[in-house]
Amino acid sequence: MHALVTRGRPGLELVEIPEPATPPGHVKVRVLRAGICGTDLHIDTWDAWAQSAVRPGLTVGHEFCGEVVEVGEGVTDFAVGQVMSGEGHVVCGHCRNCRAGRRHLCIRTSNLGVQRDGCFAEYVVLPATNVWVHPGATVATTTAQQLDVFGIYDPFGNAVHTALKFPVVGEDVLVTGAGPIGLMAAMVARHAGARHIVVTDISEPRLELARSLGFRALNPREHEIEDVQRELGMTEGFDVALEMSGSPTALVGIIENLNFGGRMAMLGLPSAPIELDFGKVVSHMLTIQGIYGREMFETWYAMAAMAQTGLDVSPVITDRFAFADWEGAFDRARSGAAGKVILDFTEGA
Ligand SMILES: NC(=O)c1ccc[n+]([C@@H]2O[C@H](COP(=O)([O-])OP(=O)(O)OC[C@H]3O[C@@H](n4cnc5c(N)ncnc54)[C@H](O)[C@@H]3O)[C@@H](O)[C@H]2O)c1
Ligand SMILES: [Zn+2]
Ligand SMILES: [Zn+2]
Repeated sequence: MHALVTRGRPGLELVEIPEPATPPGHVKVRVLRAGICGTDLHIDTWDAWAQSAVRPGLTVGHEFCGEVVEVGEGVTDFAVGQVMSGEGHVVCGHCRNCRAGRRHLCIRTSNLGVQRDGCFAEYVVLPATNVWVHPGATVATTTAQQLDVFGIYDPFGNAVHTALKFPVVGEDVLVTGAGPIGLMAAMVARHAGARHIVVTDISEPRLELARSLGFRALNPREHEIEDVQRELGMTEGFDVALEMSGSPTALVGIIENLNFGGRMAMLGLPSAPIELDFGKVVSHMLTIQGIYGREMFETWYAMAAMAQTGLDVSPVITDRFAFADWEGAFDRARSGAAGKVILDFTEGA
């Protein structure tokens, strides 16, 4: 089969490798769609993080949907022909958090496309416990657009996990970072009943995308977040902030604009330590909650329920490339001007 692998140097390679076997307790999936994520770009670049975390020869990619084509010995919950999305965090099952049912807090998580072979390939194998089936869906009954969205349930789950960490009903929400996950988080907050939602980014195409989705969006380098608060009639500050950029200045902006007792859920991954006014965190009794991955599988139930009740995140998918044109897709994702860029494994296959 064709797979996109890292050779331990800059630039991924599309190579021919044997199809993976399906061990007991595992499921083999024919990949239909996959999303390109910042992580994949880091591995493609082979930066310092990739060098420390990834072994050469690994198949990259972790956001995907596909069709179950084989179930391993002992797997009874899943059947050939089902359409599924993959939960890319494979947990140990033995640490204290796993045993308590808090699998998203596993201390030995192994990530698809980082520590184990991922989904930028015609087939991927993963533990049955990491399969999320879309009830009743088969390749014949699923539209191309539904498949696109199923392909990004992983980052959609990041957005849902972050946006629902604190109650947002009737609350004023600040979202810093209008990347695909920040935009989906803003959509989730709106769907869940937030009052005002303000989105910030420093990239004009991303701000445009946010506006096209109906959000009040601003560049904090050009406008004060406080001015927008005034315009909206907010008098005391944001109740909830969703940090979706990893940028130190975004974090500082949040601290400055939260109300007393405000809460921040932080998904954006800073690349270095950040200096912060913790005096304000204390005196304003702010809560900062880190968010990693998705709750297994509470977040997935929430995602499915929101999709069922009319939340459509498909507008964040701006580009779709055939798998064979993965280089074009990576260039587009790297440009930072697109929303979510996905690979289609059915096109030209
Ligand atoms: N914690 C997790 O489990 C997890 C999972 C996936 C992604 N992430 C992280 O979440 C973040 C969002 O992911 P994404 O795929 O949408 O990333 P992305 O890089 O596409 O989007 C981040 C956006 O933040 C913007 N930004 C940069 N500086 C800013 C600032 N000062 N103020 C406002 N916006 C600013 C960028 O212009 C960009 O549009 C990234 O940091 C990513 O690494 C975390
Ligand atoms: Zn991702
Ligand atoms: Zn564990």
